[in-house]
Amino acid sequence: MYRSNTCGELRLSDRGKKVTLAGWVQRIRKMGSLNFIDLRDRYGITQLSADDNSPKEVLDIIANLGREYVIQVEGEVIERQSKNNKIPTGEIEIKLESINILNPAAIPPFTIEDQTDGGEDIRAKYRYLDLRRNPLKSALSLRHKIALETRKYLDEQSFMEIETPFLIKSTPEGARDFVVPSRMNPGEFYALPQSPQTFKQLLMVAGYDRYFQIVRCFRDEDLRADRQPEFTQIDCEMSFVEREDVLQMFEGLTKHLFKSVLNKEITEAFPRMSYDYAMEHYGSDKPDIRFEMQIQDISELVKGKGFSIFDQANYIGAISATGCAGYTRKQIDELTEWVKRPQIGAKGLVYIKLGDEIKSSVDKFYTPEDLQKIGNKLNAQKGDLILILCGEKKKTQTQLGALRLEMGNRLGLRDNSVYKPLWICDFPLLEWDDETQRFYAMHHPFTAPKPEDLDKFFSNNQSDLAEVKANAYDIVLNGNEIGGGSIRIHDNKIQKRMFEILGFSSEQAEYRFGFLMNAFKFGAPPHGGIAFGFDRLCALFGGQETIRDFIAFPKNNMGRDVMADSPSVIDDTQMEELFIKSTASKE
Ligand code: AMO
Repeated sequence: MYRSNTCGELRLSDRGKKVTLAGWVQRIRKMGSLNFIDLRDRYGITQLSADDNSPKEVLDIIANLGREYVIQVEGEVIERQSKNNKIPTGEIEIKLESINILNPAAIPPFTIEDQTDGGEDIRAKYRYLDLRRNPLKSALSLRHKIALETRKYLDEQSFMEIETPFLIKSTPEGARDFVVPSRMNPGEFYALPQSPQTFKQLLMVAGYDRYFQIVRCFRDEDLRADRQPEFTQIDCEMSFVEREDVLQMFEGLTKHLFKSVLNKEITEAFPRMSYDYAMEHYGSDKPDIRFEMQIQDISELVKGKGFSIFDQANYIGAISATGCAGYTRKQIDELTEWVKRPQIGAKGLVYIKLGDEIKSSVDKFYTPEDLQKIGNKLNAQKGDLILILCGEKKKTQTQLGALRLEMGNRLGLRDNSVYKPLWICDFPLLEWDDETQRFYAMHHPFTAPKPEDLDKFFSNNQSDLAEVKANAYDIVLNGNEIGGGSIRIHDNKIQKRMFEILGFSSEQAEYRFGFLMNAFKFGAPPHGGIAFGFDRLCALFGGQETIRDFIAFPKNNMGRDVMADSPSVIDDTQMEELFIKSTASKE
């Protein structure tokens, strides 16, 4: 037996017990003739002690121990002289009777402490050492708990977890596919799934009316803090449902997770907001509603007063930052620089300070009464600072959305322990792309149009098509899209029309989706579903926005696994077997 107990387990009530522990040496301290070792395992830290009266072999081994050595020890649980109330085992220590080095360790390249001295790159290279640290341990344990509670809830609601293949025929979800060559089918490739979308729909045709899967998805897209090339979804689909049924079910799941994982009870229904409202007032389709500061269109109030920049602008919008009227020149200049950064791209920033007097950067053109009217439109109070941007409508709204979040940060309005989920509904079904001169599905090509927009959907008029709303929804938490789904098309005529609008010829549609369209001939039930971004959900539950630390072995921003150094070159024989011609070599 390697151990009788873990390092997180023993308490004062265990005093007098003989125990065997095993773990890693966290720290060794010598205080005169006293020796203390912190022994660590997954469960915690237990202090070990030895003094002049300890067996000589024990003292000899301690003299040669290093950090992160793997050891096994035996001893008696005794009460500590000086207690440590910061750890659960802080009242006891183990008086050492024997030590056995199970494996020595090289000096770790960074300290295995909550606050480590290691930078991001070195920690990524030695991920298995980083994973020994508490912050990562709690992140992964949170992830485990969320997965477990998800399975519990969905199982209780009669969902079946069914695995779908990873080597598939490409399913478009808007990103590029990762592809895998097939040795047995020369010149042909599988794609790794961007999601199990088509398979879950086929499961509905097969009659498995409540399906879910906690499943890896693969997308070859540009990476960000909340995006990994391989990530995990809680993927779900239901038959014989309308939008309302899906929203209720997954609002239920979200509430269950809040309660069981974070002990947060959310009793009220999640707010619902249309995509148009979100864009108009939050400048984003994933609004952070932990704070107000809504964007208002003030075009009508400011045009026609001789200020040519506003007169020429297609849209002028504003937000009001509570209590910021006292901002200094320097602070305003700095904000102006902030909005002008290429990431935001605004040309300039106009302000109105609602202080004792009303002052603005455009006093020349507007009377205090004019400015007060803007304040009224924004519901601003004395003491507030109004910030105005102008330009092309969508772009300016997005810029105001970014400025709103920045002001929310500066004002401390984005508290990570406050959770405000909501649904965004009524997305446009189609997005026009000027470059390729065609429509793209905003969600994916299987999303149904809203029933009331079917006439427009079958119209050949481009502006009608642009107005068609999708029967789709996203779930948003604190400014992050944590899930999205839709009611699907189950009628072959509508699906065919969708492919036609997206510019697929019937041959192309047949080649790519023939299997799905064929299945729909054999009795497809009305169905719909959703997929949650599991990594994002975990990160947000852990109070973070970066998903990397909630994934055991993530990739870096270049999609590389820096620990194993992949992707990597494969040798010529492997290439030949796969019928791929070598075009480049690393050397
Ligand atoms: P969608 O593409 O919206 O929908 O994806 C669902 C959720 O997955 C998360 N997500 C990601 N997380 C980490 N890294 C990524 N690269 C990444 N891409 C997406 C997001 C997103 O909300 N098949 C549909 C679902 C459906 O219609 O049922 C789908 O995949 O949180």
